[in-house]
Amino acid sequence: MLNMRVLVVDDEKGYRDEIQEYLVDSGFTVYTAGSPSEAIGIIEKDRMDIAIIDLRLPEMSGIDLMKRIREIDEQIGVIMISGHGDMDSVLTAMREGAIDFFPKPFDLIDIRCAIERTRKYIELNSRYSAIQNTCDNLIEALNKDGGIPLIGVSRSMKNVVKLIEKVSPNPNTDVLITGESGTGKEIVARAIHNLDSRGKKAFFDVNCTAIPEALFESEFFGHTRNAFTGAMTDKKGWFEIANGGTLFLDEIGDLPLTMQAKLLRVLEERKIRRVGSSTDIPLNIRIIASTNRDLETMIEQQQFRNDLFYRLNRFPIYIEPLRDRKKDIPVLLEFYNRHYSSSMKKPLKPFSKKAMESLLGYSYPGNVRELKNMVEKAIILSDKQSKELNLNVFPELQMICKANVPIPEDDLDLSCLEQIEKEMIKCAMQKAGNNKTNAAKALNITRTSLNRRIEKHGLEF
Ligand SMILES: Nc1ncnc2c1ncn2[C@@H]1O[C@H](COP(=O)(O)OP(=O)(O)OP(=O)(O)O)[C@@H](O)[C@H]1O
Ligand SMILES: [Mg+2]
Repeated sequence: MLNMRVLVVDDEKGYRDEIQEYLVDSGFTVYTAGSPSEAIGIIEKDRMDIAIIDLRLPEMSGIDLMKRIREIDEQIGVIMISGHGDMDSVLTAMREGAIDFFPKPFDLIDIRCAIERTRKYIELNSRYSAIQNTCDNLIEALNKDGGIPLIGVSRSMKNVVKLIEKVSPNPNTDVLITGESGTGKEIVARAIHNLDSRGKKAFFDVNCTAIPEALFESEFFGHTRNAFTGAMTDKKGWFEIANGGTLFLDEIGDLPLTMQAKLLRVLEERKIRRVGSSTDIPLNIRIIASTNRDLETMIEQQQFRNDLFYRLNRFPIYIEPLRDRKKDIPVLLEFYNRHYSSSMKKPLKPFSKKAMESLLGYSYPGNVRELKNMVEKAIILSDKQSKELNLNVFPELQMICKANVPIPEDDLDLSCLEQIEKEMIKCAMQKAGNNKTNAAKALNITRTSLNRRIEKHGLEF
């Protein structure tokens, strides 16, 4: 808890001492001053959280002293006290930013409560600014990269942001990001890199699906001139290019087993040697791997190395599919609607109620990427006249809606239905001994309806 430092400014020694004694007993650190100049001297020297100031002072008024103090430190909270019930001064003091005003004689407990309130306010304020700073940093870091901020209000997305903030200052911690396709693995990897103090260094993105096995070493480690036929010049490998920054191994699950072993060795030794060279190059690099595959199952099937998995999985970040964090859907829709409307220079249109209902109910197999593409397409498709983004500009949702409605009658073989109806009526009438009232009851229709159908089928009873 914050240790509050309080300055009491009053020219009446009796009051000063009484307040000081009470507040010291309540656990505060208390300074006293008998004049404005003494008070200013203390404030210039020491940080104070609160000043309790008498309205009438020698040298200058309490209000002028408050203004002067605020010039030195604008954070100080001021409580005014006064022996003169002068309403105008009270109002001026409050208008000038005093947090409380107590007429003399006051109850000391009221002053203590006012200080406690201010303590809470200061604590909340500093916590709020810390959160605000982190958010600003995060958004700025992502924007700096021309990227898009990480949007999400769900508990699981907030947890992802917390993990990003925890791991980013520790550049030697490798990270494994897992999650379905389109959940945001790459944007998270970039956020870790950008928030890292070395964020200005390279972020090098390698798609592990696309590396030919024969080229693995020369691509990852580089080579010297003439190291092999065709090596005309020295060449830096990906590890060296990303050295000092981040190497992002996208789709690590697609890396063949032999390459996994080589990668593991580098992760453990933190050095590489160019093909054809005898000099080691030390690595100061963060590895972020990502995959949408289930590595643990792959380990069971001996398609992924256990030791590499444990090495990478020291700091796992799992991103839930969008359908399991539905709270993020409206904010993502809103964000991308604004984003694309402004980049396409189109007026911002709200989602119609029906479209929004369908968008919220949709399962997004392609996750955020799919949502983003749907909004982009809807804005393109939406015509000038419509004031909202209606269901008709979301073709994916219309297809889903169609699949859920009953098949239209003209798709059925109606002659077959007619035949069945005729047979049912004959059967019901027979069972009811040709009593139309009872037959209608059995068929769960009215007598009139039964008569109409009897006539339609040309039946006679
Ligand atoms: N939380 C989010 N906030 C804003 N945009 C997001 C978010 N998550 C993902 N996106 C956007 O969705 C798209 C897909 O994200 P990304 O490429 O990071 O997914 P991925 O998990 O790497 O997918 P894949 O496995 O297919 O490579 C990107 O355009 C990204 O900007
Ligand atoms: Mg990706």
